[in-house]
Amino acid sequence: MLQRSLRFARYMNTKILKVDPNSIHFNPNSWINGQLPKFDDQLTYDALTNAARVIRDTDDTVAFPTETVYGLGGSSLNDNAVGNIYKAKNRPNDNPLISHISSIDQLNRTIFNDHRGCEVDPLRNIPTIYHPLIKKLWPGPLTILLKVPPNSPLSKLTTVDQPTFAVRMPADPVARALIALSDTPIAAPSANASTRPSPTTAQHVWHDLNGKISMILDGGPCEVGVESTVVDGLCDPPKLLRPGGLTYEMIVQLGGLPWNNCQVETRAKKDEQVRTPGMKYKHYSPSARVVLLIPQLENGQESIPSLKKILQLERGNANRIAILTTQRLDSLKSSDLVDKSPNAPQFIIQSLGTTGQQIQTNLFATLRRVDEEDNVDLILVEGIHEDNQGLAVMNRLEKAAGGHCIPF
Ligand code: TXA
Ligand code: MG
Repeated sequence: MLQRSLRFARYMNTKILKVDPNSIHFNPNSWINGQLPKFDDQLTYDALTNAARVIRDTDDTVAFPTETVYGLGGSSLNDNAVGNIYKAKNRPNDNPLISHISSIDQLNRTIFNDHRGCEVDPLRNIPTIYHPLIKKLWPGPLTILLKVPPNSPLSKLTTVDQPTFAVRMPADPVARALIALSDTPIAAPSANASTRPSPTTAQHVWHDLNGKISMILDGGPCEVGVESTVVDGLCDPPKLLRPGGLTYEMIVQLGGLPWNNCQVETRAKKDEQVRTPGMKYKHYSPSARVVLLIPQLENGQESIPSLKKILQLERGNANRIAILTTQRLDSLKSSDLVDKSPNAPQFIIQSLGTTGQQIQTNLFATLRRVDEEDNVDLILVEGIHEDNQGLAVMNRLEKAAGGHCIPF
């Protein structure tokens, strides 16, 4: 009991440390040979060395920016650290974590226990099917599955004792520098409380995890805005297990011949073993009810009259309603929805953007803003078609809506 309250007291105030990603410089070859970056801002260097020490030498966790979303990191090799990640997030512990590395050299040494250096055949521990993707897309938002090697040092809590582990090399200089300075593979799920939308700013992390973790490195908002794309090249044909920051079209185009047959397996079929365990949980959910409008290929109806009809059906008891617009509703204004009745709802209209890239970047931050700051009771989101960024965007939105989708 005393120990628990001491632990709690230690984290009463989660520290937010500002870091400047532009002050960190990697050599082009460092993603292979692990050469450390150069820093031209002392405060950034100090914060990162501090955080790296926490990862390497303690059981504690550190939240840090990546190009996709903020991650909550701890050593992939340390049961206690990984246990503390699950605890802080309140995450079910049968959902395995991605190990983040800063270089191929580090992957070889710290996970494959292979110390032969990187002069000859540095990718020797990675199946060839992944090579074209890795050479073009790492560092970046691509996660691959590899076989857990015999006598693996990875914590069984990281892999949930599966025969495979997930690994990625993030592009964000803060994330890479943290992993490089700690010289430790870092297990890092998104740094949100389990079931909440993923965090794309340090403030989102603070909102969910203040008091539960020791520190947050604040490197500004994330550029990509959705998590990494998870692919499995260990099976034939290869599979896309989670759409994310790299589109299916890019994987097919850049991956070479075997990836032409890449299967998208993001919706678990009934009675089938779930391959990405994360898929079965409630995810990305604001407190407000979310309704997703699915764009129809051919829709003769005017968008505003059909929106009004949907509002009538879906309003329920909601008094404050957010409408997140994308393409057809781009020019929607509150005055388009005026209703003179005494109990008319209040509308908050926010654009997510009109291109896939913009919508993806703004998605989680906008869901959080209308939920946490505007305190709406109902969020209606205009979906987009499932090509390019649309696949990842609609995957997150369908989960946020708990499957409550309406043709539009
Ligand atoms: O962009 C990202 O990937 C972020 C940042 C922080 O790097 N991380 C992230 O982690 O999204 P997380 O834990 O929220 O999602 C990891 C996903 C889950 O869907 C999990 O089930 C899947 O990867 N995964 C991990 N290991 C796996 C394995 N061995 N086989 C299949 N799926 C795996
Ligand atoms: Mg997550």
